Amino acid sequence: MAAKGIKCVKGVRDIFPPEIDIWKFIENIWEETFSLYGFKEIRVPIFEYTNLFQRGIGESTDIVEKEMYTFTDKSGNSITLRPEGTASVVRAYVEHNLNKESPFNKFYYIGPMFRYERPQKGRYRQFYQIGVEVFDDNSPEIEVETLEMVNFALKKLGFSKYELNVNSIGCPECRPNFIKILKEKLNENKEKLCDDCKRRIDTNPLRVLDCKKESCKTVINEMPKITEYLCEDCKKHHLRLLKLLKGRKINYVENPLLVRGLDYYVRTTFEVVVENLGAQNAILGGGRYDGLVKELGGPDISGFGFALGLDRMVIALNENIKNSFQKNPDFYLAYFGENVIDYSFSILEKFREKGISVYTNFKGRSFKSHLRLANRLNSKFVILIGEDEVKNNKIIVKNMKEGTQREIKFDDLNSFLDEISKEN
Ligand code: HAM
Repeated sequence: MAAKGIKCVKGVRDIFPPEIDIWKFIENIWEETFSLYGFKEIRVPIFEYTNLFQRGIGESTDIVEKEMYTFTDKSGNSITLRPEGTASVVRAYVEHNLNKESPFNKFYYIGPMFRYERPQKGRYRQFYQIGVEVFDDNSPEIEVETLEMVNFALKKLGFSKYELNVNSIGCPECRPNFIKILKEKLNENKEKLCDDCKRRIDTNPLRVLDCKKESCKTVINEMPKITEYLCEDCKKHHLRLLKLLKGRKINYVENPLLVRGLDYYVRTTFEVVVENLGAQNAILGGGRYDGLVKELGGPDISGFGFALGLDRMVIALNENIKNSFQKNPDFYLAYFGENVIDYSFSILEKFREKGISVYTNFKGRSFKSHLRLANRLNSKFVILIGEDEVKNNKIIVKNMKEGTQREIKFDDLNSFLDEISKEN
């Protein structure tokens, strides 16, 4: 007996039709786009040894400090449900020496991620990402090509109002100097900051710049800008990126506060935000992570990528596009009487062989109750099969809207179905 009243875990969701078609639509557009830009799919496990994320994402990030789903397995290993995909893809790249044949690789992945965050609109504890990672190309050009790809797919998805924010957070050469100055300035204003930010001054001062609390924002706006502290190489990289973006007519906003929540980034970081999502307005984010392959035991090979939040993209997608998915099969088959089931099955098969989807229900309904169900399912046509139709090798097709019906001989069925296929 099923236990009564069991609900799904807080912060996770069931996705039903027709919404699932929107998910597939988005996935398909991205997958088609990825293939145009030379990305290949990679599938990595949804759980890993915990130390991968501790080392990859950074001990003092919110994700590692308080958002990971970590447990001990039956052998005593500490295991974590992946909070993001980059660390796993890099782990796979290093573990399987993918650089040996050619270090240059372009991967994409689609799947669930897990973060113990406070649930709200657009923020879930199991959410889905579509992400890409490029290895062994440290140029601003690959960044521009990737951002152009983002534009390409977002336009295909019907997004018109979105903003690409870009920043550079420097490298291990220049960032420590900026952090030193930032820390000093933050300490001078410590009393005005929230408790989290007070703590972050010592653990992860860059993250203070990302705080959304109004009181902190006033302090943050007065802080020095990281882009003014870049070393020559980082500055050159950043200016080249901006120049190329302009040249390719990719609109962007420079946002010196965009530091992102993962420690592996160097130089370029970026995010795409939309208006209609409320507080969780970032639908996509990413950047460069040149030291990560080495940090995880591989050679010194650069990395660059992004991930988009599929849940958020579904919410943000234009309503007109969403409404176009409210579709059931046009045809419903209603059968009634003795010995009609074999014939009905053969008719259903004929429709499906021609690629036309069709419903039926086998609960032994009367014609009337079949028609009621067909109505509820919004079927445009009902195929009627009774003993007379079986005896005379025909079917009746009833147009539900017009109330008209048409008789089709079994021998003429193929040409009838071809006619319908053409119309659809
Ligand atoms: P991220 O910014 O943490 O980056 O996540 C990417 C996207 O996932 C966000 O922009 C957002 O749309 C979505 N997302 C994040 N958390 C949630 C949540 N709790 N609920 C719903 N959606 C969420 C990364 O994960 C990096 N691995 C991206 C990357 C790839 N950087 C380089 N390569």
